[in-house]
Amino acid sequence: MLTGKTIILGVSSSIAAYKACEIVSRLKKLGADVWVVMTESATKLVAPLTFRTLSGNSVITDLFSEELAKLPVPHISLAKKASLMLIAPATANTIAKLVEGKADDPLTTIALAIKGPKLIAPAMNSAMWQNVATAKNIKKLKKLNWQILGPVEGKLACGDEDIGKMMEPAEIVVEVARWLGGSVGLKGRQILVTAGGTREAIDPVRYISNRSSGKMGYAIAIAAREQGAEVTLISAAKLPDPLDIKVVRVETADEMLKAVLKYYDEADVVVMAAAVADYKYQIPNNKLQTIPKSKIKKTKQGLVLSLVPTEDILKTIGKMKGRKDKVIVGFALETDNLIKNAKKKLIDKNLDFIVANQPATFDSDQIKFSIIDKSGKVADYPLQSKDQAARAILDLAACWCCP
Ligand SMILES: Cc1cc2nc3c(=O)[nH]c(=O)nc-3n(C[C@H](O)[C@H](O)[C@H](O)COP(=O)(O)O)c2cc1C
Repeated sequence: MLTGKTIILGVSSSIAAYKACEIVSRLKKLGADVWVVMTESATKLVAPLTFRTLSGNSVITDLFSEELAKLPVPHISLAKKASLMLIAPATANTIAKLVEGKADDPLTTIALAIKGPKLIAPAMNSAMWQNVATAKNIKKLKKLNWQILGPVEGKLACGDEDIGKMMEPAEIVVEVARWLGGSVGLKGRQILVTAGGTREAIDPVRYISNRSSGKMGYAIAIAAREQGAEVTLISAAKLPDPLDIKVVRVETADEMLKAVLKYYDEADVVVMAAAVADYKYQIPNNKLQTIPKSKIKKTKQGLVLSLVPTEDILKTIGKMKGRKDKVIVGFALETDNLIKNAKKKLIDKNLDFIVANQPATFDSDQIKFSIIDKSGKVADYPLQSKDQAARAILDLAACWCCP
């Protein structure tokens, strides 16, 4: 998706420099030619050899090195071939130098010669970020046509929970791709998302359901729309319709199955975030299983309900999965043996990856989760907003979508 694009990645000496390794890997995976330029201090945090190995290109730490001698004027040659320059992480010091137009190291020298898009992802302690000097510099950088990515709130290296954390590599790469034509992510893709807990009627006033709010599914639908996808949201949640998204309202597991099957074929990515009831009430003496008209009256003898399993939607669509590039994402919520159970579900239902999470997620705006892919690799994600989690999940789905 970024084939033919050359990206210069400037790395300055924030502790977040190690995350720049992931940025390089992701950009490479998308086909970009990546050249890493490091400040001298950054080389004390991450060895240039790491970036050289990941990028497959020489790492620029010295414009006067023998290695670059084959380029007549290295900083101009590199700046000219760049489709985009990204500085991630950017220290307060490097930001200040960019504002002043300084060119006393390879990073700032190349930056000064860049004519194309320039993106910068600051990372620093919150006090440094909130310092008036930095705030003024950021304003000036914007005027100098730098696109500022983040920083975000989170746990900082110093232990504080505050603003200053570098944006996640996956999110930065999505931004880079956007600036290079928006081809990555889910632009033009058809996404089918399910959300909410289904409700299985017992009588006209009662039902069996679960604690799912639908917030995660909605966050995914909205994030996918923001990435340019065509989204169909099959919702059993009591949340308002998001803008610009086709919403199909359902109540029961059977209705959700029917709706999923209706939209399944056209979908490139199916994200099954709904909590579908595993059982439904078997209404006695009712062949069509229509909801009885009368409320069941309370008796002293108590009430025994007979429950029958609902059809397993994930398993049904997992079996149908034929098109090579269709991505199916499942969710597993478990109280016990989370990863073991999630892995089993992933295999049983023929999913591409599964998002494993715990009951604390219910109705919360945040989620702590793990993603397990087909190879069995488990990636743990810290507690974060569902919006942020949605982007991470879609980023992965987009990668799996890549031809
Ligand atoms: C372990 C360590 C972590 C640091 N992390 C940051 C950081 O996150 N952000 C920042 O602006 N400076 C950070 N600094 C300070 C910069 O490294 C320092 O200001 C340096 O002079 C910046 O040089 P550079 O911009 O040329 O890389 C850190 C320093 C150390 C020793």
